[in-house]
Amino acid sequence: MQGHTSNLQLLKKQLDRTFKKEKDRQKAHATSSKILEDLSTNNTLLGEILRSNLNKRNFFSQEHYPVLAFPICASEHYELIANVWIPLASKSTEYSTKSIHHHGPMLLTTVTAFGPGYFHYLFDRPVRDESESNVFSMKVLAANQHERSTSLFVDQYLPHCPMYPEKLSITYALWSNSIQKQLLSRVKRLPFLRQHSTLLRQIGKKIGLTKALDLKLETYLDYYPANDHFCGVKEREEVEFKKGPIPDRASSIINLLQETKNEDLLSLCEKDLLANQSLGEQIKERCLNLVSKAKAGTEIESRISDGVHFGFEKANFTHDQIKASL
Ligand SMILES: [Fe+2]
Repeated sequence: MQGHTSNLQLLKKQLDRTFKKEKDRQKAHATSSKILEDLSTNNTLLGEILRSNLNKRNFFSQEHYPVLAFPICASEHYELIANVWIPLASKSTEYSTKSIHHHGPMLLTTVTAFGPGYFHYLFDRPVRDESESNVFSMKVLAANQHERSTSLFVDQYLPHCPMYPEKLSITYALWSNSIQKQLLSRVKRLPFLRQHSTLLRQIGKKIGLTKALDLKLETYLDYYPANDHFCGVKEREEVEFKKGPIPDRASSIINLLQETKNEDLLSLCEKDLLANQSLGEQIKERCLNLVSKAKAGTEIESRISDGVHFGFEKANFTHDQIKASL
C-alpha cells in the first residue's frame, strides 16, 4: 500500500526522536522503555521484525549463538535488537544462560515482548578481594522474573545474569553507550592526549576519569559463583559460546515462527535455503525437510546445542550456586 508507514518505521522514528532530543542517555532510556512497553504486545510489529530479517540473504541459514538475534533498528545513538531466548529441552529454569557479566559503559533497556520471560539477577558493582586476584564479592540489587511488557534497565558496569526461561521468550533490547562517542573522539583527537596516553591513563585512574574517557584498562567482564565468593574471568574466550550448527538454528527459527503464529514466513526460510550456494547438500536437505514438515503442520522443537551452548560450569550455573556465593 502506497504511503503506508509500518510499525517498524514508526518505532524507529520514535526512538530517533527520543535520542536526538534527550542528550542525557539515562533519560533517553527511560523514555524509550515506555515506548517499548507500549509496543510489547503488538504482534504486527513482531511479524515485521521477523519478516525484515528473514528477507536478508543467509539470515536463516547460518551458524548462531544460543540467543537468536533479530536486529530491529539502529542510529548513531542506539541499537535495538529482538533477542529470542530458547528454553532448554528439559524446560528447566534452574540454569543461567551465560556468565554473570557486565557491558562496560553500555546502557541496556530490555522489554519482554513474548513468552514468560526469564528470571534475572542484577548485581551491584563487584568488590575485589585485594588478597586474591580474581576473587570478588557482589550484592544482589534485584532478582525477579522479567515478565511480559515490563522493562528492565541495566546500568553501565553493573553485572547481570538471565536464567533459562520456561518457554520461548522474546525481549527487545535497546543498547546505547553512556559516553557520547562524538565527545570522546574529540577528546581523544587532542594531540597532547594522543602522545601521552600512558600518562593520561595514570592520571585517569587516579581521578576516576578512565571510564569517562573510555580508556582500555584491564577489566573483568565475566564472573561465576564459587561457593562463598565470585570468580572473575580474565579472558572472555573462556566463557564465550561458539556458534552452533545451522540445523539447530533452523529448528529454533521454525519453532519461533510457529509459536508466534508467523507460519506465513516459512516460505522465506525455504527461499533462503534454496538460494544459498555455500550450504552443504546434506545440511540444506535437513533444513528444507524441517521447513516442509512445518508447512505440513508438524510442530518443530527449538534446539539448544548441547556441548556448544550449554553445559559449561562458568556459564551455566544454578540459582543455588548464585545464592551460596553471595
Ligand atoms: Fe547482558
